[in-house]
Amino acid sequence: MALRHFLSTQDWTRPELDALLDQAALFKRSKTGHQLEGKSIALLFFNPSMRTRTSFELGAFQLGGHAIVLAPGKDAWPIEFEVGSVMDGEAEEHVAEVARVLSRYVDLIGVRAFPKFQDWAVDREDRVIRAFAKHATVPVINMETITHPCQELAHIQALQERFGKDRGSSPGQALRGRKYVLTWTYHPRPLNTAVANSALQIATRYGMDVTLLCPTPEYVLDQRYMDFARQNVAENGGSLTISHDPQSAYRGAHVIYAKSWGALPYFGRWAEEKPIRDAHQHFIVDEAKMALTDHGVFSHCLPLRRNVKATDAVMDSTACIAIDEAENRLHVQKAIMAALIVNRDGNKAPQRRHSR
Ligand code: CP
Repeated sequence: MALRHFLSTQDWTRPELDALLDQAALFKRSKTGHQLEGKSIALLFFNPSMRTRTSFELGAFQLGGHAIVLAPGKDAWPIEFEVGSVMDGEAEEHVAEVARVLSRYVDLIGVRAFPKFQDWAVDREDRVIRAFAKHATVPVINMETITHPCQELAHIQALQERFGKDRGSSPGQALRGRKYVLTWTYHPRPLNTAVANSALQIATRYGMDVTLLCPTPEYVLDQRYMDFARQNVAENGGSLTISHDPQSAYRGAHVIYAKSWGALPYFGRWAEEKPIRDAHQHFIVDEAKMALTDHGVFSHCLPLRRNVKATDAVMDSTACIAIDEAENRLHVQKAIMAALIVNRDGNKAPQRRHSR
């Protein structure tokens, strides 16, 4: 069977994503299983993490598997990704060897590698995880690069828990036809566009009427993700609108999803972007804006700076489902790991120990 990775939800069909979400809901009700018995996953973190590391390690353990966490350049050798590079710099080994060696040891590889924030034309190639997917002989999971597909599924699971699952094609049932606002929020530093790209992809995939709310046209996301969103709208219904007006965007919304990101035209010239960002601190999610929604829910991928991105009142309100979404990372990632193992090994039952 062809090697299957989990790099982007766009590579997976809606029925496949729905099956992952169904399995995640089962794992939420019953935490332990044997799906990863005798299996292992290497988790490579090129950037910090709290939720991703904890939920992957714990998820592997709860399914009978084992996780090994590596931080290349810190507790593991620095890695070279350039093809044909004369490796006389910092890197001690090439991804071609790292990915192949790890594939001899483990059954899955997870990679977190954020952009370098110098040149978006380079960062948008997502070369770290692409290189692992190219050289590994086991499935590779995106733990956040320039998209965050595990977060996407956790987000949808949290929304389905509030609104229900779509059973038919008519709008207004569960998620289909809901008014969904992806709002930029202020942060003192320019951040990754990954979660925003992902939110755009998955909200349109599930047929919602999506508004991308951001300070100026310069904060519109990369063309690739805008195109995916438009393609998803064409295939799944719903709509995609761009707005720079918080009042009109929030009015009647059912979902407010917040994220801060750096404007792509200013990559590498962040001092020039800073005044624009600083002028839009009023994009904070607060009670007044939430009051404009139609009893809307609020979420964020976390970590979140309170009273910068969203107020204490919003974070502590019953509308906030960010903690549910964070919990769901555990469940959806177990579903992803189990599905990739079944895809690679077939439906062989795990070898069970017999006790007398
Ligand atoms: N949302 C998320 O990925 O959290 P961490 O950065 O803590 O892993």
